[in-house]
Amino acid sequence: MKWDHSLSIGIKEIDEQHQELVSIISKVEELFKQSLDGEGDLKEIRGVIESLSAFASSHFEKEEQLMSKIGYPGLDKHMEEHKTFVKYVDDMTIEKITQSEETALIQLFAFLSNWVISHIKKEDFEYKAFINQ
Ligand SMILES: [Fe+2]
Ligand SMILES: [Fe+2]
Repeated sequence: MKWDHSLSIGIKEIDEQHQELVSIISKVEELFKQSLDGEGDLKEIRGVIESLSAFASSHFEKEEQLMSKIGYPGLDKHMEEHKTFVKYVDDMTIEKITQSEETALIQLFAFLSNWVISHIKKEDFEYKAFINQ
């Protein structure tokens, strides 16, 4: 999974945060591959999920502050979307992963990659359009 300009919001700080999110999600994909090869490392998996959760929460907070500052009318709906993501990641407990590492990681990767791409292109692009109007 890679960031490209089709995902650009046009605000440097936000684009850099999205790039970082994409790069953490790519780590999940790597972990999945390692796990398929029987080289899964639970400590590393836990570390990546923790950094994803922390980074996403701080990105969402900054985006919400920006939307609030510009009086963006879709703020509440957008915040709900962010909550869905945080909840999904927080529900991905180490117990679930221990039960079936490969299944948990591929499901996690599928959810994260789909969610982030579609969220940026739809919800984040809506505030981009609002700023540019
Ligand atoms: Fe975003
Ligand atoms: Fe967002």
